[in-house]
Order: sequence, then structure tokens, then C-alpha cells
Amino acid sequence: MLKIENLSKNFGKKVALSDINLELNSGIYGLLGDNGAGKSTLMRILVGVDKPTSGQIYYQEEEISQLKEKYRSPLGYMPQEFSVFPGFTAYEFLTYMGALKGLSKATLKEKIPQVLSFVNLEDAKDKKVIHFSGGMKRRVGIAQAILNDPKILILDEPTAGLDPGERIRFSNILSNMSKDKMILFSTHIISDIEAITKNIIILNDGKMTAKTTSDKLIESMKGKVFEKSIPFQDLSRYDKKVQIIRMRYEGQALKIRYTGRPLDGSLPVEAKLEDYYIFHRNKSCHTL
Ligand SMILES: Nc1ncnc2c1ncn2[C@@H]1O[C@H](COP(=O)(O)OP(=O)(O)OP(=O)(O)O)[C@@H](O)[C@H]1O
Ligand SMILES: [Mg+2]
Repeated sequence: MLKIENLSKNFGKKVALSDINLELNSGIYGLLGDNGAGKSTLMRILVGVDKPTSGQIYYQEEEISQLKEKYRSPLGYMPQEFSVFPGFTAYEFLTYMGALKGLSKATLKEKIPQVLSFVNLEDAKDKKVIHFSGGMKRRVGIAQAILNDPKILILDEPTAGLDPGERIRFSNILSNMSKDKMILFSTHIISDIEAITKNIIILNDGKMTAKTTSDKLIESMKGKVFEKSIPFQDLSRYDKKVQIIRMRYEGQALKIRYTGRPLDGSLPVEAKLEDYYIFHRNKSCHTL
């Protein structure tokens, strides 16, 4: 559906995206990367809000900058910084966004209740959005992005600020929606990706370091992840020896989960996506 070729973006001397090549078809893709990795920049360029420094993006074989309206109508986008007009109720805001998207009054009358129910905000439809919690604002953001039944849905950190219940609901909704759509969502939350899709794209400091499935990434960590209980005061010593992925208190001791040469008394554990991500996050280019 979308083809990205040799895409780069510089902000002055800062290289925000470097030579990205990517093909996105129908299905859900999770875009994972640390703060400043380039996720929002990539999404802004994909939806045409920003221009690349070099490279091309094709939608059904045509360059998007040539398509104009023809590209806008299949697109749904929720930016990371999502602001709404303070005086609007959720219903009014959606009406306004729908009008901007060129939807007719009759279509909106049918669509708005559907999307409100989709994001579980029917009861709040007449409340002013300014009084909404962060999670509710996010859900209004998702609602406006899907008003036009987009073929390409781009959601920048849609789960930020959602509580665990909302998160599960959101995963289910997204999974049900993906049949004929391409959905790209960004997140820092690895468990959100695991709950929603197997297709993962990892950005690391502007470079795409992986575009694969979570199964393959987990497979690559097999036999490389261990756990060991250590006295709390020894943490800094162990931190120099191995790469600690995560730790937790266990009674008086600290249980560390790590990769590297196995320490005495360590047990290998089943690898998880998080192990891959943390293990590779500081390495530069590691294309799978
Ligand atoms: N308009 C801009 N002007 C200058 N630098 C920018 C601009 N937008 C982004 N950058 C820089 O480009 C890099 C990528 O930023 P981007 O917002 O795409 O990262 P991100 O992965 O979305 O991060 P986060 O997880 O914090 O949202 C960062 O170093 C950022 O400071
Ligand atoms: Mg961002």
C-alpha cells in the first residue's frame, strides 16, 4: 500500500531519519523506538504534514506529493501532540474534524456515534473536551482519525495515557479493524506491541534497525537471556559484567534479568521481545 524509498530527513545538522526503505501492506505495524528515534518525524512525513529532505513515498505506485486530495481521503492520522479546541464537546469536535475531511452531514450523523462507541466515549459525547482526562483526549484523537474509514491509519503513540483497561480494549479494536487497512502505530510500550501485532519496525537514532516479526526477534535472543539473584549491594559490580535488562526485588535479594556471558548460578529463561529491544537499543545499525 505504501512504499518508502531512501527516505531521509535532516533538521539542520540533525539527521532525524536516515535512508529508510520500507514497504507497508494491509495489517498492523508497531513502530518502536526511544525518545528522539524519529518515529513522529517518519509519521509526519508519511501523512504529508512534513516533507522529507530526500527520498520518495508511493501510495499505490504514485508519489504522494503528486496525489494531493486523492491521498488525503484514504488517510487517518492522530498526531502525538493532540490539541482540541477548548470550547468544543466531543461531538462538536468530531463534527468539525469530519467537515475538514470533507464528509457530508448525513455521513457524519451515522459515523460519529459509531466512532464514539468504538472508543467508548458515547456517554461523554456532550462534555467539553477540555475537561477530559489525558486518556479520554487520546480516545477522541483516535475517533477523529477513523471518522473517514481510512485505508491508511497512522497513530502516533495512541496508547499514551490509556489505563490498562482502555489499553486492552484498544488492542482488541485495532485487531478487529485491520482486515483491509494498513495501520501504523508508534509506542514505547513493548507490551502494547505484543498485544496488538507481530509486525515490528524498530527505529534507533533515525535508522531503521529492524523490520520483522516479534517471533524472529525473540528467536534471535534464545539462550541469551538469564536470571540470577544477587545481593542488592553487588548491583554495580554486576552491571559492569553483563547487560541488565530488568530487575526486581525478591525478598532481600535483587533478581536481575540479563544478557551476556552467563554468570555462575544463573538460569536461562525464555526470551521476550523486551530482551531484544533493550539488548539492541544502544547498538547502531543491526538490520535483520
Ligand atoms: N521541527 C524540528 N526541528 C528540529 N529538530 C527536530 C524537529 N522535529 C524533530 N526533531 C528532532 O528529530 C529527532 C527525531 O524526533 P521525533 O520527534 O521524530 O522522535 P520520536 O521518536 O517521535 O520521539 P518521542 O518518542 O519522544 O516522541 C529528535 O532528535 C528531534 O529533536
Ligand atoms: Mg514522537
